[in-house]
Amino acid sequence: MFTAMRTAGVLSAVFAGFTMVMAQAPGTPAKQAIAHRGASGYAPEHTLAAYRLAMEQHVDFVEQDLAISKDGVLICLHDDSLERTSNVEQVFPDRSTAAPAAPAGAQARGGQAERRRWLANDFTLAEIRRLDFGSWFNPKFADSRIVTWQEAVDLVRARPGMGLYPELKSPPLYTSRGIDMMKLFVESVKKNGLDRPESLKTTPMIIQSFDEPTVRRIAQELPGVPRILLMESFGSGMTEARLRDIKSFATGIGPAKALLEAQPDVVKRAQGAGLTVTAYTFRTANAGRFASVRDEMSHYLYTLGIDALFTDNPDQFPRK
Ligand code: G3P
Ligand code: CA
Repeated sequence: MFTAMRTAGVLSAVFAGFTMVMAQAPGTPAKQAIAHRGASGYAPEHTLAAYRLAMEQHVDFVEQDLAISKDGVLICLHDDSLERTSNVEQVFPDRSTAAPAAPAGAQARGGQAERRRWLANDFTLAEIRRLDFGSWFNPKFADSRIVTWQEAVDLVRARPGMGLYPELKSPPLYTSRGIDMMKLFVESVKKNGLDRPESLKTTPMIIQSFDEPTVRRIAQELPGVPRILLMESFGSGMTEARLRDIKSFATGIGPAKALLEAQPDVVKRAQGAGLTVTAYTFRTANAGRFASVRDEMSHYLYTLGIDALFTDNPDQFPRK
């Protein structure tokens, strides 16, 4: 009797283990949702409201685009400058600089008056903290303040299993100002222990950049951390040789979704080369030829077979 019960128990445990393994489906890892600038379809990008909502919508990762304040603090901001997503023009009307000239075509068409910009790197964190980062999106978010990279780390890390997805934006801009963005970032990652294997299990992190030298440097300085090379174009072509070259320093590619629409074969070829494929950006306002953004995401994930995607609408992410 005891032997029979023990045998049943063992079988039950084996079956439970088998079920668990089946649920994890080796060889077909779960697709991953990255909240693009937080749940930015519903709350102002890179605010605590957008990050918290993304986590409530059960994303796998919350994205942080990174910029640097005048006093050397990493902040979560998509643009190099502050005027699109804050009231900096009202608070600091005399602190703008001339923006780079408009493209020649725009000038030929009559162009625009000289554009001014308020570079984040010209303002201290204390000054940036005075700005309202919510009203441009909706007056109900008027209390939204800048989120520092450290605050984002602390917020996400408090929820085990939730991941960070920092993008090193514009490293060449900072280099031109004598600032080593990568050095600052690596110091922060190491200080927080985010590159340690035990940390990566509880707080996964994937680093991204459009800047290839930066991704190459991440491979050297943070070799244990996954990193993807973002792409606005495939340049002269995504050949097997180019894929092998990318694999030598990155763990994945991050193409604009239009590139995969034009060349869907790249998904399987990149994966065949050992690279993950993470496409950007999926949003209700731009679902292309699809009836809904959910349908569009399904197509890319389950027909083309990409591994992950960036979306403004994480609640629409189709999990199978
Ligand atoms: O980082 C992936 C995607 O966010 C790239 O586009 O311009 O929104 O940073 P962007
Ligand atoms: Ca980004």
